[in-house]
Amino acid sequence: MIDKLDAQAREILCQNDRGGYTVPTDGLYPYQWNWDSAFAAFGFANFDIERAWQEFHSLFSGQWENGMVPHIIFHQEDKGYFPGPDVWGTNKSPLSSGISQPPVAATFVRKIYESDPKAGREHAAILFEKLADWHRWFHVNRCETGAAVITHPWEAGRDNAPDWDGAMEAIDVSKVQPYVRRDTSHVDPEMRPTKYDYDRYISLVDFARENDWNQDIIRDEGAFRVADPTMTFILLRANRDLLWLAKQLNKPIDEIQSWVDHLETGVKTLWNEELGAYDSLDLKSGKFANSLSCASFLCWYGGIENSKMVEQLDLIFSQTKYSVPSYSPMGEKFNAKRYWRGPVWGVVNTLIGMGLEDCGLNAHAQRVRSDTVELIKNNGFAEYYDPFDGSAAGGGTFSWTAAIWLSWASPNAKEG
Ligand code: GLC
Repeated sequence: MIDKLDAQAREILCQNDRGGYTVPTDGLYPYQWNWDSAFAAFGFANFDIERAWQEFHSLFSGQWENGMVPHIIFHQEDKGYFPGPDVWGTNKSPLSSGISQPPVAATFVRKIYESDPKAGREHAAILFEKLADWHRWFHVNRCETGAAVITHPWEAGRDNAPDWDGAMEAIDVSKVQPYVRRDTSHVDPEMRPTKYDYDRYISLVDFARENDWNQDIIRDEGAFRVADPTMTFILLRANRDLLWLAKQLNKPIDEIQSWVDHLETGVKTLWNEELGAYDSLDLKSGKFANSLSCASFLCWYGGIENSKMVEQLDLIFSQTKYSVPSYSPMGEKFNAKRYWRGPVWGVVNTLIGMGLEDCGLNAHAQRVRSDTVELIKNNGFAEYYDPFDGSAAGGGTFSWTAAIWLSWASPNAKEG
């Protein structure tokens, strides 16, 4: 059974390979997505390490001159996706979106390099400079209050999380032109973000495009600016791994160390005492989201230990058959099927599990891993899963779910 799943996972990665880059899944997501690709590389590294490195090179082929690495690279136009390159209007080559995504890449570059330093040294040296430019972009443009900030819900990779509900209310959608969504023709609309959400997503893109993606204008006048645990913990971890790479490659370390120090202090601004957890903070209103989400549990991945968060995780474990739900089942906005408002995501489980293990919380890590194994064994390589009955939701044959199976969840995984 396990070997069969390993073979299936490899097959999914190969099927979603478009020649040097991987699409998240056929149809629903026909382009190269940023953090999906880093996970895909982690999966490829199990059976084709050169192909793994290639995935990073194709991702960084979309890097902007200012260092930003976009969340989508539109290598080959596909009419089946909305919003396409015309809506983003970034005028880059290759065509790309104008926002970024959680920078998991440095962490997987490190892991793949460590698995075979000889094969990886040259690749890691090329990628190191690009990763440093990207992380610098975050620190220059997105870390003004200490934690890392997103300017669009898509940037955190948790599109319709309840975290953004408060901030989304304030967005003016009166100028949004009629548009046709494509996602709901691939997947049950009940499992996707609503039209209310989409109008706001598009309004934010329109504003940034009209202002030529100028980060100062987006910061001072944009309608959405939220300091978020996904971005903050992931960037903190990525900086730690970049620092490790710098030492291996004899590169300067002071600047990277200053980023780590900055975020170690910055994460404190995300502690919501009332909630007793790390939370998203709306910088426009100054209000916390009051959202206990899967991102709250990325603290260990970021190298931050916190005993209260262990208690919170124990509580979450007791609520659903499968952990870690993307939003607390005790929260009033919980929905077991709707995307980032409740379902379990294997990729986030992987990051949470890695962090728990790094911090010596082995029993907790084991629970997260075994839940992920059960979900995949019983329901296939889905985009996400219902935390109560485990049923598959969203798109199928998903690259990143296949990748984390191979590299982390499978009993044959190197990390396992
Ligand atoms: C959705 C997810 C995002 C992911 C993308 C492609 O937008 O929310 O995290 O990167 O799909 O899989």
